[in-house]
Amino acid sequence: MATLNTLKRIYEPIQPQLLEVRALVDSIWRDALKLVRVPSVDIPGAGGKLLRPALCLLSAGAAGAANLPHFSRLAAAYEGLHLASLAHDDVIDHAMLRRGNNSLNVLWNNHAAVLGGDYLVARSVEMIAEYDCCAVVAKAVRSVRRMAECELFFFGRPPGEAAPEECLQLAEGKTASLFAAACSAPATILASSHESALWQFGNSLGVAFQIVDDILDLTGTADELGKPSCGDISEGKSTLPVLYMRKVISQTDKTRLDALQGATLSADDRQWVLDMVIQTGAASRARAVAKSYADQAQASLASIPKSPYHAALQSLMGFVLERHT
Ligand code: IPE
Ligand code: IPE
Ligand code: MG
Ligand code: MG
Repeated sequence: MATLNTLKRIYEPIQPQLLEVRALVDSIWRDALKLVRVPSVDIPGAGGKLLRPALCLLSAGAAGAANLPHFSRLAAAYEGLHLASLAHDDVIDHAMLRRGNNSLNVLWNNHAAVLGGDYLVARSVEMIAEYDCCAVVAKAVRSVRRMAECELFFFGRPPGEAAPEECLQLAEGKTASLFAAACSAPATILASSHESALWQFGNSLGVAFQIVDDILDLTGTADELGKPSCGDISEGKSTLPVLYMRKVISQTDKTRLDALQGATLSADDRQWVLDMVIQTGAASRARAVAKSYADQAQASLASIPKSPYHAALQSLMGFVLERHT
């Protein structure tokens, strides 16, 4: 099973830089905590898989960077943008837990969590600007724009109305755009010929990652997810596995599913959703789509010279498909 230990092994070639990333991100949080007048807490949402900074650093290595530590601040900026998106996402999704702890909107409130997210965006873009490369700043800002555009596009739409292609566009916009930016930014700075392949790799991997996230939301345990399962059901979100399930269930089941929107799900409700998503084949259908994106990601790596970083990117792709966390 792909666990956090699997990730630790994959991250070996960039371990010192990831420690630096963690310290940089923690220091940004400490600055934010100094600003607010609420009882001091540990770093909000500590932990996380550090996928985006890892992708950034491994891509730097794969593109032939001679000086990996040079990219630690860039990598930290991509974690900062991710954390900002999580702060905003938990407000949008009314989420109470993140990484097994209170979400920022619970620790503070919605108002401060939105501002906290904005603060993280600003600090991250500042760090990216240190590289004196307009193209790489533009790339990061474009991914923030794509995240907002895609969430706005779904605002006010009833669940089940979306088409599968729209779910994939949402995954591309809200998740893959940041993966693609993180993967290709070092190559942009290095003026490497591998920029486009790394962008493609990140984009395809990001879509696969979001589809798996959407499946895990329905099939994972609270321990694995760091939050209760089926949040996408209670929020009435149109995800690919939910859509596939809706297409084939009876009207009675559809009515039961719709009644769960806005409700607090019981253990029985969660079990029912899990059974439905497995029995209808919706989970395996969505997983096959994730696999096809992972295959595209794999193909994008073909033109990049073999190296320990290249190998780690390939292993990360396997992790994305097999993960439970
Ligand atoms: C969660 O991302 C948000 C999505 C894009 C689905 P991660 O699963 O990478 O979150 P952390 O950083 O490990 O907590
Ligand atoms: C990903 O979508 C959100 C971002 C890209 C910020 P989700 O809403 O599925 O993420 P989780 O499941 O809350 O982590
Ligand atoms: Mg969410
Ligand atoms: Mg999710």
